[in-house]
Amino acid sequence: MSNSTFNPKQTLEDAVRRSVQLRQEIEADPQKYRVLTGDRPTGALHLGHLFGTLLARVEMQNLGMETLIVIADYQVLTDRDATEHIRANVQDIVLDYLAVGLDLLGDRTHAFVHSAVPELNQLLLPFLSLVSMAELDRNPTMKQEIADAGLRTVNALMYAYPVHQAADILAVKGTVVPVGPDQLPHLEVTRDIARRFNARFPATPPVLTLPEALLSDPQPVSGLGGGGKMSKSRGNAILLKMTADETATMVRGATTDSERLITYEPERRPSVAALLRIAALCSGRSPDSVAVEIGNRGAAALKEAVTISINTFLAPIRRRRIEYASDPSIVERVLRKGNDLARSEAIATLERVRTAMGMTYGV
Ligand code: TRP
Repeated sequence: MSNSTFNPKQTLEDAVRRSVQLRQEIEADPQKYRVLTGDRPTGALHLGHLFGTLLARVEMQNLGMETLIVIADYQVLTDRDATEHIRANVQDIVLDYLAVGLDLLGDRTHAFVHSAVPELNQLLLPFLSLVSMAELDRNPTMKQEIADAGLRTVNALMYAYPVHQAADILAVKGTVVPVGPDQLPHLEVTRDIARRFNARFPATPPVLTLPEALLSDPQPVSGLGGGGKMSKSRGNAILLKMTADETATMVRGATTDSERLITYEPERRPSVAALLRIAALCSGRSPDSVAVEIGNRGAAALKEAVTISINTFLAPIRRRRIEYASDPSIVERVLRKGNDLARSEAIATLERVRTAMGMTYGV
């Protein structure tokens, strides 16, 4: 087994470069690709998800690419014991997807839950044999997640989940995976597994298809307060489903500094920069121009402007979300359709995987 070394900076630079190129290739022939991406149902989705990947997914869907989204419920068990919120979270996430414009009831965009596709778990076993413990152990994203979750002991699913994720992607033959930079190491694991499987169990055409990462925005959205990326568990996230008033309250409560003149200086003034960047993303401007407009009117004026830009940008999304939420059967219909499709793909892949390994017995 070759031991690939993961160099985060090099990988990010390569991925950014490749993504620019890939985007052009996609635009030339969108039908050629199948998008597979996913989210862990740990809570309703927020602005970080929106600018990190959701808008890119909508764009790809609208280009005519087939898009599959896995709601990775088993992955929730990597860093928490309780599962009582998963059901509500899955409901929230499906409504968030619909609200941002993912056409999950149409025939090109599909969402499925991990636990509904048992073949994924069966693919996990041979895939686990293709990576070493050392490789899993030095995965930087996993280390970060372990640190963020403050785990005292790390369960084996945490180590295995990048491999689990490889099963998600390879089972349904995803060729493009739109992700934030934190997911790049995982995508490398998937590519390593596909390469190694194809080399060890050759077939024509090769059994597994290598996916590529498509980075939408290499810079994650900072949470309110500027202390790191936006995440619900850090309490610094603007959820898509919040009301305008809840949004205003959240933004008002964000830490800033006491300098009256608002300037965009990400290194020196991270909390102000985080707000400026959010306003910039929501209004399609640069953080500098937002800063200049606020001038020396201080943090209160900045927060007011940020609130308005978020609420204006999210208004149509929130309106649609309320409409979808009023249909009690919608989530079920979305998942039934998505689960069926993912399952039939995964069954076919598992069949080819077992055949290539010589593990079919005609019974
Ligand atoms: N690990 C991803 C996250 O935490 C979710 C995920 C699961 C995923 N399976 C995937 C992402 C496959 C891309 C492809 O957000």
